[in-house]
Amino acid sequence: MVAIEEVRKLLESRGAVLLAHNYQRPEVQDAADYVGDSLELTLKALESKASTVVFAGVDFMAEQAAALCPGKRVLVPEPTAKCPMAAMLTPELVKRYRKRYPRAPLVVYVNTIARVKALADYVVTSANAAKLISSLDAETVLFGPDKNLAEYVAEVTGKSVVPVPKHGHCPVHEVITLECLLASKSEHPNAKVLAHPECPREVRRLADFIGSTSQMVKAASELGGKEYVIATEVGLLHRVHKADVAAYPASRYAVCVEMKKTTLSKVAASLLEGRNVVRVQPRVAEGVRSAIERSFELLGVDAPWLRR
Ligand code: 13P
Ligand code: SF4
Repeated sequence: MVAIEEVRKLLESRGAVLLAHNYQRPEVQDAADYVGDSLELTLKALESKASTVVFAGVDFMAEQAAALCPGKRVLVPEPTAKCPMAAMLTPELVKRYRKRYPRAPLVVYVNTIARVKALADYVVTSANAAKLISSLDAETVLFGPDKNLAEYVAEVTGKSVVPVPKHGHCPVHEVITLECLLASKSEHPNAKVLAHPECPREVRRLADFIGSTSQMVKAASELGGKEYVIATEVGLLHRVHKADVAAYPASRYAVCVEMKKTTLSKVAASLLEGRNVVRVQPRVAEGVRSAIERSFELLGVDAPWLRR
């Protein structure tokens, strides 16, 4: 097994930066230069001065970094790590819904493949979906692929949010049922509940806070609770525990196997061999950049390439 120190040395010698999502294995998080949610990692990839970015996450995250940073080399340690929810929204499906709702803007979740982002009007993450959709001058909005996030945004904004497709979902968050949340709460009756918006409605209803993975970590230190039940993928517990907060999973079966495919050995191998470079067709990358630039402008996100 490769040690954290070896990975750190390799990163330094190759002038590379390691970005890890909050659901990564604990040792991968501990070796990373930065650990965060989808939005934070995108911004870190953009801001980094390193010529090589190693992305410990899943396909759509690395692809987005490659599209936004054409001058950098983006390596993905495990190219088969793919988000099953992102695969639920195809360009063909987008075209069909566009025809059916010609006046509705299409907002896509960051968990989509680059070819779909390139067809979208806006791209959001769980950290800013409700904010962006509430600021749109449209009462009906197409949103995909997560039907739970679509429903949550509709609840918060009062808009008609049409899920594209009808039943897009994250199989990991679907494991977090009301029954398992209640069981975890009965073991920890004083715990507050933090939930990701990809959770089913019955789970969100019992939450004291709903937000992106990093917003959940922040809420754990700000809500003033003594302990928390965490309704998302179990990898987030590592970050919450590192912040010295007592936290328990809503379901210990909420494991994203795709996120866990990345190991320190694979990070080291990708650096040593310079393999698994993420490539996005220039025309697709241009479309992704336009959709994200429009979204960042509307959200007031200070993105490096927007600083003129
Ligand atoms: P965050 O952007 O909240 O980290 O979520 C990404 C994700 O894949 C959740 O399942
Ligand atoms: Fe995709 Fe769900 Fe895994 Fe997130 S947790 S990467 S949405 S499968």
